[in-house]
Amino acid sequence: MNLQLDAPNLGEIEQEALKACLDSGFVSTVGPFVREFEEVFAQFVGTNCAVSSQSGTAAIHLALYELGIGPGDEVIVPVTTFVATVNPILYVNATPVFVDVDSRTWNIDPEEVRDAITSRTKAIIPVHLYGNPCDMEVLMQISREFGISVIEDATESLGATFDSRQTGSFGHFGCFSFNGNKVITTGGGGMIVTNSEKAADHVKFLANQARDERRGYYHPEIGFNYRMTNLEASLGLAQFSRLSTFIQKKRLFRSIYEDAFKASKAISLQSEHACSKSSWWLSCISIDLDNLDLDELRKNIASLGIPTRRLFCPVTDFPPYRPFKTRDFPVANMLYQRCLCLPSSTLNKPVEVEKAAQKILQLLES
Ligand SMILES: Cc1ncc(COP(=O)(O)O)c(C=O)c1O
Repeated sequence: MNLQLDAPNLGEIEQEALKACLDSGFVSTVGPFVREFEEVFAQFVGTNCAVSSQSGTAAIHLALYELGIGPGDEVIVPVTTFVATVNPILYVNATPVFVDVDSRTWNIDPEEVRDAITSRTKAIIPVHLYGNPCDMEVLMQISREFGISVIEDATESLGATFDSRQTGSFGHFGCFSFNGNKVITTGGGGMIVTNSEKAADHVKFLANQARDERRGYYHPEIGFNYRMTNLEASLGLAQFSRLSTFIQKKRLFRSIYEDAFKASKAISLQSEHACSKSSWWLSCISIDLDNLDLDELRKNIASLGIPTRRLFCPVTDFPPYRPFKTRDFPVANMLYQRCLCLPSSTLNKPVEVEKAAQKILQLLES
């Protein structure tokens, strides 16, 4: 058994796409695949525009920058997330305001968002954690009620839907990642989607060192080098052609885990909101046992050839973010103590996932 947690699935289609790109000579940021990838991406997500970027982190940074968020402004984020959701808020010298997550979906709790709003709140960054969509209906209602922007961190949720609409298409901006472990990969890259053509044009300009191409090398603003390369986009297009197969497989793995653990009183799974269809980028479980030593359990599971990963540690536990901790986060802490991400790579065979689930079950029941 050679189970993978989140390794990318690369094959002949990807090799051919990369070869075609190499043969064309356009390996850097000029070349036709970047535009093509942006077009098919926007069409799939259902937004007017998509702008590619160098990473998901760069996408979130550009979205905050485009919204003009800066010193003195507050941005509400869930405390259970990867630090890359939070760092861009600090890059623009704004203040992250952390809120707790929902114990069922593990996503930002809309009631907590409401309570955290002040006159300085400029944006909310909901994170569709592990591919599981947030309650976008309530979050967009809050956004309208208080005039606050929404930047969806959809870095983990490509292909997941809420009310049959793709994640990333609800907010003012949606940000995706194509890092090696994501639903599809470009090696490293990202995408920003929006319905505003004006914003998309300006984001594209900012990502290209704010270069006014009509005037040659003329730079009327300070920009960034946040572009995707043609080589990355060629890989992205190849991976994109396999997206529905990847999602079907990830959802199959999740149903295998669900079936295997349904009789267990100790194990529960991350849950979908009633209107959501998660991509289950990673299938994750919560283990409710007295005196649970999660790291010890991970070692025992690893000795069976099964890789796992702990849930994201609450961001405010890390030194740079401690000054922003103004309260406790009981749900995020509880989840961090109990939860594990299980093998979810589309390289895995369903029969191996089934065996792994049975072994984990036996270990926990022994
Ligand atoms: C929740 C979350 N936000 C942001 C990012 C940043 O994406 P990237 O690694 O492409 O910069 C990631 C992935 O790494 C992530 O998991």
